[in-house]
Amino acid sequence: MIEIVAQSSIMREVLRMAERAAASDANILVTGESGAGKDALALHIHSQSRRATQPFIKIDCATLPSELLEAELFGHERGAFTGASDARPGRIEAAHKGTLVLDEIAHLARDAQAKLLRVIELREFERLGGRRTISIDARLIALTNVDLEAAVSRKSFREDLYYRLNVVHIHVPPLRERREDLPGLARDLLKTYAAKHGRRVNGLSQEALAVLKNYDFPGNVRELANTIERAVVIAAGARVESEDLPEAIRAAVLTKSHGARRRTLAEVEADYISETLAVARGNKSEAARILGISRKNLYEKIARYGTGEEGKRGNG
Ligand SMILES: Nc1ncnc2c1ncn2[C@@H]1O[C@H](COP(=O)(O)OP(=O)(O)OP(=O)(O)O)[C@@H](O)[C@H]1O
Ligand SMILES: [Mg+2]
Repeated sequence: MIEIVAQSSIMREVLRMAERAAASDANILVTGESGAGKDALALHIHSQSRRATQPFIKIDCATLPSELLEAELFGHERGAFTGASDARPGRIEAAHKGTLVLDEIAHLARDAQAKLLRVIELREFERLGGRRTISIDARLIALTNVDLEAAVSRKSFREDLYYRLNVVHIHVPPLRERREDLPGLARDLLKTYAAKHGRRVNGLSQEALAVLKNYDFPGNVRELANTIERAVVIAAGARVESEDLPEAIRAAVLTKSHGARRRTLAEVEADYISETLAVARGNKSEAARILGISRKNLYEKIARYGTGEEGKRGNG
């Protein structure tokens, strides 16, 4: 069981939401980029819920073709289709009293969407080829890394199902938006992989940590985990050094710090003025007061920097 690292305020808020939702029986939609930690959060919610000692069942809607997926989800009776030589319960049945996680929910075909809607609304279903109606009590957690609302407008996802799944919505932010979580995550992952590979690596050098903190991790926590695992395996000493990190990551960080031009004082001033104008809702007297300069001086600066229009735009 992994602990969810939440040092950043944004992730602490996510955890608070998750724990509040865990205490209820509401269906939950978890969104977030690939590798951000949606699966990890789903498991955390289950373990914090009254269903914790009951089954935690996951099904990936993206990997199976639609007929097989339906058979997996709903189960089937003997002879339901060619090759169904035995009756088999599905994942929904297996999740009775527990939690059912539907990963990559956007890939669910229209037919299965309709059936799932019935499961949610009536808490019952039949196996494929079956007549017996089976009652089910499970909490649903749906995961997606695509914009489900957009899928609804495209009509590839049923709106009624979307609302049924989206009773509570939790967004797991990408790692680059919560860099404060990185040291804690790196520490936990280091421990995990050192144990897995029997290596006595117990920390990261300041420099290695600085490289990681400056990298954007498009693959999020999964990419960090792979990076740490590799570093643990190749580290020569008890500490991971920056040389143990992939060249691509070190190069990306170097390009970023060297490539970023420092702004001039005039640019900073111009930005701050338009920001203040936005805060003052375009009211120049108010903006001048906040900035501690005269109205006349503000008008001069606006004319010089051409920031007046932005101020109005900021005002909506
Ligand atoms: N907060 C966290 N603390 C510790 N480990 C984490 C955390 N978040 C994610 N991980 C680990 O990172 C990896 C990726 O996380 P996970 O599988 O939950 O991502 P995901 O959002 O479901 O990605 P995908 O959309 O690709 O399925 C897993 O190995 C998971 O254990
Ligand atoms: Mg996942």
